[in-house]
Amino acid sequence: MSIINTVSTTRADLPSLDLMFPQELISPEVSAQLPSDLEIRPLASTDYKRGHLDVLSGLSVVNDLGEVAWVNQFHAMRATPCAYFSIVILDKASDKIIGVGTVFIERKFLRGLGSVGHIEDIAVDKNYQGKKLGLRLIQALTHISESSGCYKSILNCNDANIPFYEKCGYVKKENEMVFFK
Ligand code: ACO
Repeated sequence: MSIINTVSTTRADLPSLDLMFPQELISPEVSAQLPSDLEIRPLASTDYKRGHLDVLSGLSVVNDLGEVAWVNQFHAMRATPCAYFSIVILDKASDKIIGVGTVFIERKFLRGLGSVGHIEDIAVDKNYQGKKLGLRLIQALTHISESSGCYKSILNCNDANIPFYEKCGYVKKENEMVFFK
């Protein structure tokens, strides 16, 4: 499947959302497994107001620089072709984001000019954890990575989250090294 950046969605129920990438890249199987009051879709340029950073703050320090800065970052990421794919799970009744995640597609010279999907910044609102929404995020992001032709999908996590990622089908391999400034 070819991946192109786009500025809008064709879905009838989302007529005016300005999405990071086409809704069609979200696995229909994953969408179908969500409860009917929830929706999984690409990040939209208006999602600052829907609590995108509130959910991310469950993972790490956010340092909110305001909506204008957030929107500029959204556009900068979308302008990088076929690289950033951020998704959200939305509670339709409250119009609030309750789950977030991203896959970054890295192009390589190795493996016949192959690509690797880096899964990043996964978080589910505390009130919604334990309902398989984290699993759905990982399934959707892995689907995007595979659809992009990546030969593998990888991620870093702490020891406490290893069982979660194992439930998602991931296996532990090698180590992470960090150089702190
Ligand atoms: N230890 C053991 N098992 C776990 C854990 C855990 N810490 N977390 C989830 N599981 C299991 C669940 O019990 C479930 O198992 P089951 O299929 O047998 O019922 C399975 O994993 C799927 O769990 P979900 O319900 O999909 O998990 P949830 O929606 O709660 O999301 C997440 C998990 C994303 C880790 C959530 O707890 C969270 O947001 N935590 C805070 C932020 C965070 O740590 N994010 C991950 C950072 S790593 C990264 O971003 C690459």
